[in-house]
Amino acid sequence: MSNSDFGLIGLAVMGQNLVLNVESRGFQVSVYNRTTTVTDEFVAAHPGKKLVGAKSLEEFVQSLASPRKVMIMVKAGGPVDAVIESLIPLLDKGDIIIDGGNSLYTDTERRDKWLGDLGFRFIGAGVSGGEEGARKGPSIMPGGPASTWDVMKPIFESISAKVDGEPCVTHIGPGGAGHYVKMIHNGIEYGDMQLICEAYNIFKAAGFTPAELGEVFTSWNDGDLESYLIQITAEIFKQKDPETGAALVDLILDTAGQKGTGKWTLINAVENAVVISTINAAVEARILSSMKDQRVAASTILQGPKAIISVEKQELVKKVHDALFASKIISYAQGLDLIATMGAEKSWGLDLAKIAAIWRGGCIIRARFLNDITEAYRTDATLSNLMLAPFFTNLLNGFQENWRQVIATATLAGIPVPAFSASLGYYDSYRSAVLPANLLQAQRDFFGAHTYERTDKPRGEMFHTDWPEVIG
Ligand code: 6PG
Repeated sequence: MSNSDFGLIGLAVMGQNLVLNVESRGFQVSVYNRTTTVTDEFVAAHPGKKLVGAKSLEEFVQSLASPRKVMIMVKAGGPVDAVIESLIPLLDKGDIIIDGGNSLYTDTERRDKWLGDLGFRFIGAGVSGGEEGARKGPSIMPGGPASTWDVMKPIFESISAKVDGEPCVTHIGPGGAGHYVKMIHNGIEYGDMQLICEAYNIFKAAGFTPAELGEVFTSWNDGDLESYLIQITAEIFKQKDPETGAALVDLILDTAGQKGTGKWTLINAVENAVVISTINAAVEARILSSMKDQRVAASTILQGPKAIISVEKQELVKKVHDALFASKIISYAQGLDLIATMGAEKSWGLDLAKIAAIWRGGCIIRARFLNDITEAYRTDATLSNLMLAPFFTNLLNGFQENWRQVIATATLAGIPVPAFSASLGYYDSYRSAVLPANLLQAQRDFFGAHTYERTDKPRGEMFHTDWPEVIG
């Protein structure tokens, strides 16, 4: 019977939880997984639910009401293309394929054209919130034709997280815009996580135990830093290892993994000549963390001060709070700058207020201060940099002294704070009316006759000097 409202291919945990979410909102859902036993077990595990388990792709497609809505939740890259290729002969023109994975936005653009040319409709949707978000309400970033969004809107709005009654989903823009914004979301996620880790490293050097850190992060989560990542960090510090009784965090090896979205964000930032130094530092920190053997060897060769911080604990908590919050503002300012720049470049018509608004709930970077970011862009859609919104300018002005002290203290103790430092470096560069690039231009002109502009002549007028010859 062709009466399911929605179909999903790929029953890994995210897929399963999305299916349960959609079903719980009153929709009948068909499911298909390449390994049929996974489908059978999933359907059997949820008796009484409006689920249709299909044994073949043909059966799956036939079970869907027209226009068919098929969401693909498989690994990004080749597997997405493979599923699409096998669906094409089975679908009718006008049917909708939704890719809900972490696809590279250029792949989404290619698929948008490919499927559009064949008469199908395609949505590339970033879905954030992990397993729990998928089940209870994720933040969804769909890109594709507005007319296709209109068809998908009721389902997406009903399954998404809600903040103040507003669904955490909006039509981001055409083509790859949705996956692009999800990519930047992930870059910002990398930044947030690294900043928290740097705060942790400083606290460790000041003698904080995991139990004490659990309390610090819990109290931060009751204040202006309230966010999902601060909340889970508090829980992590409280977690004991059942085997040894020790704090679990102390037993986890310090090598970070990554699946690619952070790296893609950096590549795109360079292509757009946008500075995202905090996110850059976060990606590089993961890379350095993975060089465990080299680090262990170098730790006995390369010298530095003893990693001990002797600042009174309560005072340090306040200072690190300010450094963390200031750096976080910078990270979002950079990520949003990249979105604005790319959006303009691609004529995507992106609305930063709407993007910030759908990040307030459901997603990994959800945070109280996204309300303030949303407000800043609702007040001034043309804001050139988040730092210049009065609310954030005031915060940064208030935080900057402690921010500097924390970075200086950590640096003097030999504790790496690459994301804190990169953030402050951006802040200080951005607010410098004069930078030393005059010297740089002179150097370029010296060795390559690249010419320079002068401070005492109109902009655009180029000069060259016959520099002395250098021998040797
Ligand atoms: C989300 C997460 C999710 C995933 C990341 C992790 O928004 O729900 O970002 O998409 O956890 O892909 O990426 P790394 O493995 O690169 O840390």
